[in-house]
Amino acid sequence: MKITLSVIKADIGGWVGHSDSHPEVLSKAEEMMARAKQNEILIDYYVTKCGDDAQLIMTHTMGEENRVIHELAWDTFIACTDVAKKLRLHGAGQDLLTDAFSGNIKGMGPGVAEMEIEERAAETIIIYMADKTSSGAWNFPLYKMFADPFNTVGLVIAGNMHTGFAFEVHDVKEHKKVAFNCPEEIYDLLVFIGASSRFAVKAVYHRDSGDIAAVSSTQKLCMMAGRYVGKDDPVCVVRAQGHFPAVGEVLEPFAHPIYVEGWMRGSHYGPLIPVSVAESTPTRFDGPPRVIALGFQLANGKLIGPRDMFDDISFENARAEANMMADTMRNHGPFEPHRLPLDEMEYTTMPQVLNKLQNRFQALED
Ligand code: 13P
Ligand code: 13P
Ligand code: MG
Ligand code: MG
Repeated sequence: MKITLSVIKADIGGWVGHSDSHPEVLSKAEEMMARAKQNEILIDYYVTKCGDDAQLIMTHTMGEENRVIHELAWDTFIACTDVAKKLRLHGAGQDLLTDAFSGNIKGMGPGVAEMEIEERAAETIIIYMADKTSSGAWNFPLYKMFADPFNTVGLVIAGNMHTGFAFEVHDVKEHKKVAFNCPEEIYDLLVFIGASSRFAVKAVYHRDSGDIAAVSSTQKLCMMAGRYVGKDDPVCVVRAQGHFPAVGEVLEPFAHPIYVEGWMRGSHYGPLIPVSVAESTPTRFDGPPRVIALGFQLANGKLIGPRDMFDDISFENARAEANMMADTMRNHGPFEPHRLPLDEMEYTTMPQVLNKLQNRFQALED
C-alpha cells in the first residue's frame, strides 16, 4: 500500500516571544486535522510543536505535492493565525508570506517534507523538527546516519546496507540540485554539504533498492520573503530499521551537539540541543537551537506513536555539553564566530551605519 507522509510546519505566532506555541493554537490545528480525517482526506495525523513552530504530521494516499493536502495545511495555518491574532501572540502568522493559497504550499512560507512510500511490514519512522535554525542543520546528522561507519556500524556489518546511500543535495541560493553516491563520493559530497548555509541535503536514497530513506524541508524563509521574517526551523523524516539504519544509529548523530546557525535574530551560531517536546521551548537568548525527534510505527498509514525519542537519560550528556558550548559562544557577545559572518546575517544595521559615517571614511595611504 502506497502511503504519503507529509510534514508541514509554520510559525503561527510565539507564546511568549519566540519561545513556545500556545495550546489554543495547537488545538485549533487539531480540530482542523480531525475534520480532515473524518472526511477521509487524511488517514491519520499528529499535531505537535517545536518551540514556536506548529507541526502537522499527516498520512494520506494522495501523493507528494498534492493540492488538497497543501491547501488543508494552509487553511489550518490560516485558522490558527486567527487564534494567534486574538491572543496577540508574537508575530502571529509570521511564516505565512502570501494572502491566498496558490496550489502548492512550497514557496508560501511553511516548511515541507514529504515522502511517498510502499509501507514495509514494520515501517519505523523518526521525524526530526528543529527550532532556531536553518535547513542546512540536517546535513551533518544525515551524513553521520547514512555515510559515516563510525556512527552507523550497519554500513559495515549489515549486508543490506553495505552498498551505501545516495544523497540529493540542493543549492538553495542558485536553485540547483546534484546527487552523490556514497561511500565512493563522500569527499565530493562534503565539499558541498559542509557549507550548510548554501547547500542542504534534500533527500537520501538506499542505493540497492532506490528506496527513499530520508527527506527534509529545504525552504529558505529569508530568500522567499526577501527580508528576515524568522528562521527556517526545518523538519526531516527518516526511515529506520531493515535496510535503513537502526533507530539508535539514526539518533546517534545528536549525542554530540554541533554548532548551527539561527540563534537570536537568526544571526548567531549556537549548539543544536536534542530535547523532549516539553523542553523545546528556547528561552536563553531566544535559544539555543533545539531539535526534537518523534518516533512512529506506521500501520496502514496509521501513526502508532509518538515516542518522544530524546526524552531519555542517555541524551543528558549531550544537553550538558550543548549548554557548555552555548556559554562559550555567548562569551563572544556580538563578535564572530558567535555572530554570523556579514553576508549571512539575517539582520544588519551595516548599510545605515556606513551611510551615516560615509564622510568619515578615508582611503588608506599605502
Ligand atoms: P533488527 O534486526 O531487529 O532490525 O535490529 C537490528 C538492530 O536494530 C540493532 O540495533
Ligand atoms: P523564530 O524563527 O523561531 O521565529 O525565531 C526568530 C528569532 O529571531 C528569535 O530571536
Ligand atoms: Mg517565531
Ligand atoms: Mg521558530
